[in-house]
Amino acid sequence: MNLILLGPPGAGKGTQAQRLQAKYGMVQLSTGDMLRAVVKSGTPLGQKADSIMKAGQLVPDEVMIEMISNRIDEPDAKGGFILDGFPRTVVQAEALDRMLEEKGLKLHHVIEMVVDDTALTERITGRFTCAKCGTGYHDSFKRPAVENTCDVCGSHEFMRRADDNAETVGKRLEAYHKQTAPILPYYAGRGVLKQVDGMAEIDEVTRQIETIIQS
Ligand code: AP5
Ligand code: MG
Repeated sequence: MNLILLGPPGAGKGTQAQRLQAKYGMVQLSTGDMLRAVVKSGTPLGQKADSIMKAGQLVPDEVMIEMISNRIDEPDAKGGFILDGFPRTVVQAEALDRMLEEKGLKLHHVIEMVVDDTALTERITGRFTCAKCGTGYHDSFKRPAVENTCDVCGSHEFMRRADDNAETVGKRLEAYHKQTAPILPYYAGRGVLKQVDGMAEIDEVTRQIETIIQS
């Protein structure tokens, strides 16, 4: 099964994608994670992406479209994938349609995580991840079971994202409303858009997504 999780920064896309990947085996394709890996590599593209991301703006469509098309072709995506952070513009959504058709693949559900803008800054500024395996946590909402120890891999090293500060979050939200939200009517018109309450507790959001994918 191939899904899109859509929602503003901090909506819980990554949190839910990780859970679905662990339980159902579809692979999480996070364009944000892919870009952060490119930034770490220090290539010219990485340097360009780094400054765009720190400014809370979007990386050019053509870069993202090529990145996701190549990633979908990798063997682990054959059993199904969850797009987390892509598409983010109508141009990307149209390109995704074309590439899926060319690859003979179907898009089963587009799930919008509906959240209140006011909750997002708190969610994002409290977020941290395991530096080794990438499992996501939050200072208030999802702490590791054993203090300073990753629940999944046992590592004691954690990290925070460079764009997770209040100022950049404001810019990322603006980009979402201006450039990404217009995707919603695009998918609604094609009858694939479903919604979940992203303000609910993490387990409840998972239950709502499972109801959709099992329908
Ligand atoms: P990306 O990495 O995709 O960031 P984002 O969309 O801003 O989303 P986040 O990762 O911040 O939030 P999330 O929805 O995954 O929430 P999470 O589960 O972590 O993109 C980063 C940048 O890369 C972009 O700004 C852009 O520059 C660039 N980029 C990426 N893709 C691009 C594209 N396609 N085109 C152009 N540019 C692109 O949850 C947040 C926190 O809240 C966590 O701590 C979590 O524990 C907690 N939490 C989650 N759910 C709940 C809940 N239900 N209740 C309480 N707490 C919760
Ligand atoms: Mg994320």
